[in-house]
Amino acid sequence: MNIHEALDWRYAVREFSPEKLDNQLVEELIEATRKSASSYGLQPYQLVVIESESVRRVLLPHSFGQQKVLDCSHLVVLAAHTNVGDHTVDRYIDQYMKIRGVPYEDIAGYARHMKEAVGSRTDQEKREWAHQQAYIALGTLLTVAATLRIDSCPMTGFDHEAYDAVLGLNEMGLASTAIVALGHRNPADEHALLPKVRFDDEEMVIRM
Ligand SMILES: Cc1cc2nc3c(=O)[nH]c(=O)nc-3n(C[C@H](O)[C@H](O)[C@H](O)COP(=O)(O)O)c2cc1C
Repeated sequence: MNIHEALDWRYAVREFSPEKLDNQLVEELIEATRKSASSYGLQPYQLVVIESESVRRVLLPHSFGQQKVLDCSHLVVLAAHTNVGDHTVDRYIDQYMKIRGVPYEDIAGYARHMKEAVGSRTDQEKREWAHQQAYIALGTLLTVAATLRIDSCPMTGFDHEAYDAVLGLNEMGLASTAIVALGHRNPADEHALLPKVRFDDEEMVIRM
């Protein structure tokens, strides 16, 4: 399946079938999402994968009537770090040194630069920045899901504070950004057959 076939195949699913996704396939999707790009590579977010039906049942009343939170196979919550600062850079630098095997001296200047860039933002801007990075991961997740033939529906129509409370996200230094229901489309979901509404190339793309 080429990328256009995958992107034409995907749509924001309204109704899921009761059929569960293979856990290994879900893990493949999560592993691909983990490889998403982020500003400076700092990855100020986490992915919460909820298979538990009982947890999703508790979330349902906070989902603005979106029954698919319960009817899907797995629910992914993308959650941004609420406390972004020097430690965000230090954590990344530790991982960088571990993976690339370079001494701290080699990247001390880069670390300083990142700390200045991050630190120049207000607390509100830092929180927004973290959510923006999580949104990039959301895009990666949706595209990869399509290539794996996993049906999905991204959602921001839910009570973020209630989700954070139910899942204990604040205690983990996180706040929900968006959720994605994963599963198989219900054959009765007629939205699958509707043509995509996208602006034409000449309206969307400015070429210089
Ligand atoms: C950030 C974001 C939030 C969304 N929130 C919801 C939502 O709460 N409920 C829903 O049914 N669809 C939601 N959608 C799906 C969009 O409505 C859908 O992607 C758009 O209409 C384009 O249709 P398509 O994805 O089927 O091509 C959301 C999409 C995005 C990217």
